[in-house]
Amino acid sequence: MVSHSTLNMMSGFILSFVISLLSQRSSIEANVMSTEVNSESVFLNVDIARVFKRVNDRFLSVAIDASLVAEEKFMYLLTSPKLRTLARALTPAFLRFGGTRQDFMIFNPAFLHSNVYHTNSPLDADDLCERLELPPLLEERLKQEWALQEVLLEKEDLQEKYRKIRFTEYAVDLLYAFTNCSGLHLIFGLNELLRTTDNNWNSSNARTLLQYCESRQYNMSWELGNEPNSFEKKAGIHVDGHQLGKDFVKLRQILLESKVYHNTGLYGPDISQPRDHRRDLLEGFLESAAEVIDACTWHHYYVNGRDTSLEDFLNPEVLNTLTLKTQEVMKTIEMVSPGKKVWLGETSSAYGGGARGLSDTFVAGFMWLDKLGLGAQLGLDVVIRQVLIGSGTYHLVDNNLDPLPDYWLSLLYKRLVGPEVLNIEAFSILEKTKSVRVYLHCTNKKSPSYKSGAVTLFALNLKTSPASISVPAAFSNSTAEAFLLQSELAGKPGLLSKSVKLNGEVLKMVDDRTLPSLQGASIPAGEHLRLPGYSFAFYVFGEAQAAACR
Ligand SMILES: *[C@@H]1O[C@H](CO)[C@@H](O)[C@H](O)[C@H]1NC(C)=O
Ligand SMILES: *[C@@H]1O[C@H](CO)[C@@H](O)[C@H](O)[C@H]1NC(C)=O
Ligand SMILES: *[C@@H]1O[C@H](CO)[C@@H](O)[C@H](O)[C@H]1NC(C)=O
Ligand SMILES: *[C@@H]1O[C@H](CO)[C@@H](O)[C@H](O)[C@H]1NC(C)=O
Repeated sequence: MVSHSTLNMMSGFILSFVISLLSQRSSIEANVMSTEVNSESVFLNVDIARVFKRVNDRFLSVAIDASLVAEEKFMYLLTSPKLRTLARALTPAFLRFGGTRQDFMIFNPAFLHSNVYHTNSPLDADDLCERLELPPLLEERLKQEWALQEVLLEKEDLQEKYRKIRFTEYAVDLLYAFTNCSGLHLIFGLNELLRTTDNNWNSSNARTLLQYCESRQYNMSWELGNEPNSFEKKAGIHVDGHQLGKDFVKLRQILLESKVYHNTGLYGPDISQPRDHRRDLLEGFLESAAEVIDACTWHHYYVNGRDTSLEDFLNPEVLNTLTLKTQEVMKTIEMVSPGKKVWLGETSSAYGGGARGLSDTFVAGFMWLDKLGLGAQLGLDVVIRQVLIGSGTYHLVDNNLDPLPDYWLSLLYKRLVGPEVLNIEAFSILEKTKSVRVYLHCTNKKSPSYKSGAVTLFALNLKTSPASISVPAAFSNSTAEAFLLQSELAGKPGLLSKSVKLNGEVLKMVDDRTLPSLQGASIPAGEHLRLPGYSFAFYVFGEAQAAACR
């Protein structure tokens, strides 16, 4: 028999059990809402006491492919005020002008015999940066014609049959004015495929060009030849490493004799990434020319633009291939010419002009930002992005001269990331995390808004679910400023977007001469950094007081 009081007790018990169940459920729900069940917890190991690596002040640099001059009129795109504004914001940086077509280019001066370049050049006045601007109507027409030109260039690339390109002083002047007026330092790629009958470099045309540039007092640097490992395929000419080195020695000799260029930069050999026999070319080249070059350049692309996929852009294994290739190149350089600086002289996501529908979208940012982070960690001195503008889909600025997601990413990188690389490692609860990648630098000391000792952490989340990053004790006393980059659309469709949001606002130029102010969002000291799925972010810890960054 069950007594009344027992019943009361039981119902009381059941009631409290139900209440506790209910409250448990709601606390589970609350939990899901606050940290999200599948949010990955990430912990960081950092060393902010010492500088691990130091990169060039122009670490993030850009290229314009020589295909722009295939028809000289398109060089006038470089006088667009909008493009100038975009380029100026990326300084300090090198601008490399080169690529496959540089080895088919012949300087064909229009005023060779006049000897009075100054009266014939479009660049006479001191105010040339303001004066030499493309009128809007002409810019519109050129942009339309460029779309057609691109189709032709692409066809040529597919067939690997290249026409000779003749260019005049105008092209040189327009290129130099663009770099000089934007504050970029020009590196010009000379044609190595002009050969004598005994297969030495025929420097005669380069001398003519150098004389012209000297007469104009153009402060610029030089390269010779693009991807010499495939000269045979492109032009049926074989140049081995030692011969290439001899050609560089000759070029250095010519530069030494020049009043303007006697201590200019010379970079090379711009070989493709290592694949079987290519290492021999580099070794031979360095044996004969290491002393005449200021940095050893090689090219890197993760994938072939024609057979890649969205998944590749988010695949940590693909991103890690940069480590293997870099170590392979560095091993050869360390063996033959220890201490020589190493540059990615041309680099992007996918070769063959980029991957259509991918290389110019938000998802390309994962490859680009990871290359900037990992490349600096590996000790690369400069990384030259193919391309600022031009054909293909790996450009930073589209054919309407509007900035693409990778442009905005580059701009933030320039503002926030300094050349001092710090050591950092990320851990998940059980293992080294694969899908959250982190990098740490001193904050750019040239940014007026940050104190000495500040550090910038940047992080990428390659998967769909969010991550929660614990701020390491070393700077958990500092507030943070977050610059979170996300697509405007959530999930996979957003990855293919051509626009990007900074802290929730789509980034766009205010007008052709004005970039938006890039506002960070403040995070209180010690709070976890919440990195949404498929996003990347920069976090500036202004009061980190890192010994390495003072
Ligand atoms: C631009 O040209 C001026 C005058 O020749 C020169 O002093 C300056 O160093 C140049 N700037 C760059 C970034 O090359
Ligand atoms: C080099 O090329 C020029 C034409 O640009 C030619 O006149 C000259 O004979 C060539 N020199 C040699 C040694 O082949
Ligand atoms: C030329 O440019 C380099 C690199 O920007 C700079 O260091 C040098 O001072 C410049 N030289 C002149 C004469 O302006
Ligand atoms: C953070 O602040 C606490 C309390 O003021 C202090 O004890 C600790 O040493 C600080 N940590 C660092 C890394 O400065």
